[in-house]
Amino acid sequence: MKGKFITFEGIDGSGKSTQLRMLADVLRARGLDIITTREPGGTTLGRHLREAFLETKETVAPMAELLAFAADRAQHVEFLIKPSIAGGKIVISDRYADATFAYQGAGRENSAEQVNQVIALATGGLKPDLTLFFDIPVEIAISRMSVRDESQAKKNRMDEETAEFYSRVREAYFEIAHREPERFRIVDASGSVEDIHISVVGLVDGLINLDV
Ligand code: ADP
Ligand code: TYD
Repeated sequence: MKGKFITFEGIDGSGKSTQLRMLADVLRARGLDIITTREPGGTTLGRHLREAFLETKETVAPMAELLAFAADRAQHVEFLIKPSIAGGKIVISDRYADATFAYQGAGRENSAEQVNQVIALATGGLKPDLTLFFDIPVEIAISRMSVRDESQAKKNRMDEETAEFYSRVREAYFEIAHREPERFRIVDASGSVEDIHISVVGLVDGLINLDV
């Protein structure tokens, strides 16, 4: 089978990581050669960058944030994503370039033109074959995040953003869905974990079966 590149997107707390783990288990059980990864932090350099810019307490300039995510991505594309696809693997990444368009573009209000230029430089034009956008109302995502923060993961700088910020990010994802309906599929992420999982497997099967 030819290598494939699948990305998961959505606002924080939309349930992406939960669904990515479940999908990976199913694909591995079928004997498929898959790699799961994430942005930021899919490489060793990326993990250092992730820690530096998600955990810092200082004010971060919007341009510095844009370029930091781009540096993480350039390293990830060059040393993990591209070689894995070339080796025939299915790469599934928790976030990729659409997150920069949504968060640094609409969220931080950098100009869309600049953001797109930086994305093009960092990715060398590499686009996913399929992107699943886990869509959820902002209030539900925020309440899920507060449960998660109490129970396990520590909060990062982006988790402290306002509902208005996340609404802008969500709208930007809808804009991509409108522009690229073939690649960018909307998954209703407000239902049960199991129901969402069934939709995810259906969408991914569509991609993989086209190319066996
Ligand atoms: P993300 O990676 O998009 O930030 P997570 O997968 O970490 O989201 O999920 C955020 C929180 O919501 C976690 O505590 C997770 O257990 C919970 N969660 C995930 N999916 C659902 C769902 N469908 N319904 C209710 N809670 C969910
Ligand atoms: P993470 O803990 O991975 O969030 P989640 O599990 O909710 O996806 O933190 C990543 C944060 O970085 C998240 O708030 C989204 C943000 N981000 C950007 O702002 N731009 C980007 O290009 C990427 C990849 C992530």
